[in-house]
Amino acid sequence: MAFDIDMIKRVYANFPSRIEAARKLVGKPLTLSEKILYAHLWQGDASETYTRGESYVDFAPDRVAMQDATAQMALLQFMQAGRAKVAVPSTAHCDHLIQAKVGAEEDLKRANTESKEVFDFLGSVSNKYGIGFWKPGAGIIHQVVLENYAFPGGMMIGTDSHTVNAGGLGMLAIGVGGADACDVMAGLPWELKFPKLIGVKLTGKLNGWTAPKDVILKVAGILTVKGGTGCIVEYFGEGATSMSCTGKGTICNMGAEIGATTSTFGYDESMERYLRATNRDDVADAANAIKAHLTADAEVYAEPEKYFDQVIEINLSELEPHLNGPFTPDLATPISQMKQEAEKNGWPMKVEWGLIGSCTNSSYEDLSRAASIAKQAVDKGLSTKADFGINPGSEQVRFTADRDGYLKTFEDLNATVFTNACGPCIGMWDRVGADKQEKNTIVHSFNRNFAKRADGNPNTFAFVASPEMVAAIAISGRLDFNPLTDTLTNANGEQVKLDPPTGDELPQKGFAVDDPGYQAPAEDGSNVEVIVSPTSHRLQLLEPFAAWEGTDLLGLKLLIKAKGKCTTDHISMAGPWLKFRGHLDNISNNMLIGAVNFFNEKTDDVKNQLTGEYGPVPATQRAYKAAGIGSIVVGDENYGEGSSREHAAMEPRHLGVRAVLVKSFARIHETNLKKQGMLGLTFANKEDYNKILEDDTIDILGLTSFAPNTPLTIVLHHKDGSKDEILVNHSYNAQQIEWFKAGGALNIIRKNAAK
Ligand code: F3S
Repeated sequence: MAFDIDMIKRVYANFPSRIEAARKLVGKPLTLSEKILYAHLWQGDASETYTRGESYVDFAPDRVAMQDATAQMALLQFMQAGRAKVAVPSTAHCDHLIQAKVGAEEDLKRANTESKEVFDFLGSVSNKYGIGFWKPGAGIIHQVVLENYAFPGGMMIGTDSHTVNAGGLGMLAIGVGGADACDVMAGLPWELKFPKLIGVKLTGKLNGWTAPKDVILKVAGILTVKGGTGCIVEYFGEGATSMSCTGKGTICNMGAEIGATTSTFGYDESMERYLRATNRDDVADAANAIKAHLTADAEVYAEPEKYFDQVIEINLSELEPHLNGPFTPDLATPISQMKQEAEKNGWPMKVEWGLIGSCTNSSYEDLSRAASIAKQAVDKGLSTKADFGINPGSEQVRFTADRDGYLKTFEDLNATVFTNACGPCIGMWDRVGADKQEKNTIVHSFNRNFAKRADGNPNTFAFVASPEMVAAIAISGRLDFNPLTDTLTNANGEQVKLDPPTGDELPQKGFAVDDPGYQAPAEDGSNVEVIVSPTSHRLQLLEPFAAWEGTDLLGLKLLIKAKGKCTTDHISMAGPWLKFRGHLDNISNNMLIGAVNFFNEKTDDVKNQLTGEYGPVPATQRAYKAAGIGSIVVGDENYGEGSSREHAAMEPRHLGVRAVLVKSFARIHETNLKKQGMLGLTFANKEDYNKILEDDTIDILGLTSFAPNTPLTIVLHHKDGSKDEILVNHSYNAQQIEWFKAGGALNIIRKNAAK
C-alpha cells in the first residue's frame, strides 16, 4: 500500500491550487464532481472552462482496475502498445470466470482447472507489467477496490461498468472499455466529454426495512435506464452522511443502471470509518487534511438548483423498500404495491431463488443485515421456501462474516455459499433446470436483470431488491410478500412476523483475513514470459486492424436492423461466451445473436443478401467478409447500453462491419466503437430509421472530408431501384477521426511508442 499513499499524497497536494484555479475560472462555487474533474486535468491547472455535455476534456486518472473477462482483451491490447510497465497503479481481478454450481470450494477448484490458461495469462501479464493481481476467489473487483484502493477525491477508470461503485468512497470512478484502460496504462491522457451534473438531495434517514439499495431503486424509477446518460450523479444531504460507506457504494454502483457516467458522495465520517476499518489510517489522515476540497462548496448544497443541471430530492424517512423488474432495472415497484402489480402483469408469484451478492450488495453490512433476517427465520421456526444462494464480495468479507457466525446462519437456512465472485450476476450459474426455460421468478440483490442475464432462461423474471428484502422474500417464497405488514406460518402453524433487519456497518471486532488472494507484481518484469498458445481456444494474440482505405465506403450491405433494446449483452452475450473473451475470432461467433431483427422479429436470423437465405448473424457477416463486402448495423435508441464490453465493438470490427448507425448510443459503447476504428453514426432525423429496408445496399459519403461537427451522408439503394439519401451525425473530434483513419487508436499508440 506504500505505493498508494505516496500517489494519493501527490494527488492531494495538487487539490487546493487546482480547485482554486478552477473556481476562479468558472466564477462560482463548485460541486464535488467539478472539483475532482478539474483536479485531474491532464494539463494540470485549468486554463479554460468546459461546457457540460459538450467539451471533450483530457484527464489523468489515478488508477486502473480490470476484471478477468475484460482484462484479457485490455491486456492483449496493452501488450501491443510497446510499453515496459504500466504508467499508473493498476490491478486485475479474477471474479467473472467462476461458475456458481454446488458451493464455494468445489466451484473454485473447477474454475481453476477450466480457466487455468486464462488465469495464468493474466497472472503473468500482471507480473510482467507491474499490475497487482487478485487471484480467483479473492473477491469481486469493486468490493476489493473499495476495500483497498478507492480514496476520496480520486479518479479511477475500470474495464467494467460497475467501476462506479467506488463513488461510495468519494471517487469519480468510471467504467470504460479495455482500449481506454490500455491508453491510461500506456501513460496517455483519457478523454471524456465533460459530464452534466445531477444532484440528488437525500433528506431524512433510512429506517426499518429500507436500505441504501432502495434509494437507487427509487432513483432508477425516476430517471429510467437512460436518464443519467452523460451525467455524474452527486448525492448530498443529511440522508447521505447518515449512511454507511458501503451503502453509498451500492447507490453509486447502480448508477450504471441509469446510464450515468458515474456517481459520488462527498467525504464524510462514514468514509473515514471505512478507511480506518480497512487499515488505511494514512489515507484517512491525508483526506482529513484537505477535507474542505473533498466535498462541494457550501453554497452548492444550499441552493442546488443553481449548480446542478437537474435536482432530485428523496426523503429517506418516507422511502419504501422496492423491487425493480422484471427484465429492466428501472421498473420500480414499492413493496406495498407489488401484489397488485404482479397480479396485473401476470408475474409468477412463486419465488424459486433468492440470491444475495454481486458487487452491488456483498459488503459486511449487507451480509449482516440479511443474516439478521435469516436468523429470525430459524429462531421463529420458519424455513426458506425458495432456494437461497450467497456470493460474499471478498475474501476479507467472507472470512470476517464466517468468523462472526453469519455464514453459519445462512447455512442453517440451507443457503449455499458460493465463491467470492460474480457467479449468477454475470450468468455464470449452472442453475438446475434452467434449460427447460420455464416461466419462473427469482429475486436478487444484484444490479442487472435483463432477460437471460442470471441463468440464460428468457422466461426467468428477475427482480432486484436489497439483501434483507431478498432474504425475507426467499423465506416467504412469494413475490408479493411484504415483510412490513405480512405474517408467515411457521412449522408449528403459528403466524409469525419478521422484525426489521439489524446489522453492523463494520465488524465490531474488525476485519480479518487469512490469505486475501493478492499477488504483487515483480519489481522488474522484463524477464517474465507471457505465454499464449497459437492453438488456444481461449486466448489469441491480436493483429492490428487495417487502416481506412481513404475513400468513401460504397456498396455496404445491411447486416441487421436491430429493433428495440440492444444492449452489449445482445451484441456480445456473456454467460457461456465469457470463456472466449481473450479470443477475438472465437467470441465473434456471438456477434449480435441477441438482437431482434426488425424485419422478422427473430433473434440471430438475418437475410444474407448474397444468397437470399436467412441464417445466424455471425455466419452471415462472415459470408460478407469472405466476399470482401463491408456491412452496416442499424440500431434503435441507447444502442450498446449496459456494459463497457469492448468486444461489442471489436467483434463487428473484426468481422468486417464498417459502421453502426443508430437513433442514439450509450456513451461507453460509442467510445469503444471509435477506439476500434469503426464508424458510430446517429440518424440526424430519427424517423429515417424507417427508411432502412432489408435488402438495402448502402454508401457512406463525406469521409474524405470527415470533420468534427459535420454530418455525413448515407445513400440507401433499395432493391426496387429507388434510393433515399439521409443525413447522419457523428460525435468524432479531431483525435477520434485520426483513430478512424489509422484503423484504431492502438495503431496510433504503437506508432508513437516506437518513435
Ligand atoms: Fe460482477 Fe455482476 Fe458486479 S458481473 S462486477 S458482480 S455487476
